[in-house]
Amino acid sequence: MQKSTQVLFKTQFEEDVYKGLSDFPKHLSSKYFYDQKGDKLFQDIMHMPEYYLTRKEYDILKQHTAEIAEKFAMGNPKFKLIELGAGDGKKTKILLKYLSENNFDVKYQPIDISQSVLDGLEKSLHKELPDLQVEPQHGTYFEALEKINLENGTKKVILFLGSNIGNLLHEHAIAFLKSVQELMQEDDLLFIGFDMKKNPQTILDAYNDPSGITEAFNKNVLARINTELDGNFDLDKFLHWEVYDPETGTAKSYLVAKEAQTVSIDKLGLLIDFAPWETIHTEISQKYDDKVVAWLADNAGLKIETEFSDPEKEYKNFVFKKC
Ligand code: AVJ
Repeated sequence: MQKSTQVLFKTQFEEDVYKGLSDFPKHLSSKYFYDQKGDKLFQDIMHMPEYYLTRKEYDILKQHTAEIAEKFAMGNPKFKLIELGAGDGKKTKILLKYLSENNFDVKYQPIDISQSVLDGLEKSLHKELPDLQVEPQHGTYFEALEKINLENGTKKVILFLGSNIGNLLHEHAIAFLKSVQELMQEDDLLFIGFDMKKNPQTILDAYNDPSGITEAFNKNVLARINTELDGNFDLDKFLHWEVYDPETGTAKSYLVAKEAQTVSIDKLGLLIDFAPWETIHTEISQKYDDKVVAWLADNAGLKIETEFSDPEKEYKNFVFKKC
């Protein structure tokens, strides 16, 4: 199809919304869930009884703190602990507390795209663990990692928690792991949280809470389009819908149009038609098994050093090294 006018995008958000809603089937990226309101909704999700991921990972770190710390320090107790997407650091603080109270020589470098998240984290750490060296890095994962890599010499332990990797399709997860691997030296470690395959009902429940928090979180991308791009989405005309395929381990979130409608997005000069029950795919939350984790590592030039898990083996934190 020919476009009559050239569209210039001022932000990645504008471009991604334009392309995602002009595509068929329609899609929007889950990275746009997270503005101030979305951050708050995700905090609420982490406290929901159905959302087991955060609790399970917290328990793993709590149960195995000393072992994990020893693993990180193995061979060289002086290291930088670098966290990709640090958030409020609630889970990481268990490790940080242990490391700082047991005289490990650690510098903590949280990386986040939200400056306000980093400010909050730094402030709380100075209060709770005054002896810990903290050096926040604002930016995308790779900008920050490359910067950290330049000040070389010290061993790096890179944390990527919360099954955030699950937002990436395998192909993208491999590309991501490869680029982290390229920035790793021989002694460096990569510590990643993976949500494992389990009873499909448990997974569906985690993304389908009756209180509607996940629904509001999913719809927050539409709310952002309304406020930031002058859109007129009627949020009530969309359903939150979750599916989980126990074969592939892929959970997917959709927004489903309950009736035919046309939505305008003035800043993009765009009119979007929805057929009744047409979908917008918004998120994937991949679930893993041991074979798939080994396969991802293999494809990214990483090897599994060890793993930590909850007693039910429903969530696992793997430690990787460069091959
Ligand atoms: C933060 C990406 C791990 O996929 O489980 C929670 C986000 N989405 N409920 C996940 C999320 C819906 C979460 N991650």
